[in-house]
Amino acid sequence: MPTEILTGEIAVDRAVQLLRDGGVVALPTETVYGLAGDALNDAALVKIFAVKARPTFDPLIVHLPHNDWLGRVAKFSTLEQKIIGSLIGRFWPGPLTIVLKKTEMISDLAVAGLDTVAVRRSANPIFCAVIEKFARPLAAPSANRFGRISPTTAQAVREELDIPLVVDGGRTTHGIESTVVQLVGGALEILRPGPVTSEMLVEFAPVKLAPGGRPISSPGQLLSHYSPRTKMQIVARVAKTPDHSGGRVGALLFGPIETLGFTATRQLSLRRDLGEAAANLFQSMRELDGEGLDLIVAEFVPEIGLGVAINDRLRRAASFDKTERVG
Ligand code: TXA
Ligand code: MG
Repeated sequence: MPTEILTGEIAVDRAVQLLRDGGVVALPTETVYGLAGDALNDAALVKIFAVKARPTFDPLIVHLPHNDWLGRVAKFSTLEQKIIGSLIGRFWPGPLTIVLKKTEMISDLAVAGLDTVAVRRSANPIFCAVIEKFARPLAAPSANRFGRISPTTAQAVREELDIPLVVDGGRTTHGIESTVVQLVGGALEILRPGPVTSEMLVEFAPVKLAPGGRPISSPGQLLSHYSPRTKMQIVARVAKTPDHSGGRVGALLFGPIETLGFTATRQLSLRRDLGEAAANLFQSMRELDGEGLDLIVAEFVPEIGLGVAINDRLRRAASFDKTERVG
């Protein structure tokens, strides 16, 4: 059956109906499109893993309809409660996911057997309309096949997944996935860098980074994520002409430079704005991946603010061994 792409009230109603029937549906969020299913229904969770070809050791993010749900799905100490209260006061609804101890309400399947659960609230108005009407938490990983680039448009979801319905909310605002943090002894560990940067988080608690200033990696997070099919190489600066004679080489550039001899180029932000670069990143990777190239040469962006998350996605995209694709 072909995937339907719908908008408006009719799409919201259809999505809620599918969710009530234990089905899955792709919904826009402010970060990337998600593949949503009832977080409290294991049959729906099984479908999410199956549709994405996602291994069951990779835990899902649970999206909440309202802050009131937090105390039902997660447990925390008084100290943690204070920090969490100020974090969600500032960043929810929005692109911040918090890993907390889970309650009995959340099944082992949702969290891949961990005793923690990752929770967030999306700010996307269509997502909010669906989850408010559904009135239960939604598990929603990014709506791509496992190991592939997260979709930032409804059309990209349709290319990725075989599902009945994608609710179209246009291009997503941030373009990269939410920041994932875990509270450890009153400090915040960034498990996945994202739109809420460490510079924004230090105001609320000390932020712990792995040696070398890199974020600490999540248990379920493999290096082989966000991957185009084409081989990708990252350099500090892309040269004006490719040093790869004979092959079809594409360039993924941060700002405007005049290049010669590349088969295709994409510029993430002509005004060198990191927010705009993040919003364009996955779509640009997807487009270059469709050009039949032998190699994509990408350049790092400045490793500050949102640049940390962009460089993280670039590293992961380049690290994947194309001969060992999963799913
Ligand atoms: O922006 C987003 O977060 C999107 C939208 C759809 O909400 N969702 C998303 O989900 O990116 P997903 O499943 O593609 O990525 C979830 C990440 C994974 O890296 C996973 O390992 C980590 O969150 N995660 C989930 N539960 C965790 C837990 N209990 N402990 C540590 N990491 C966890
Ligand atoms: Mg994902």
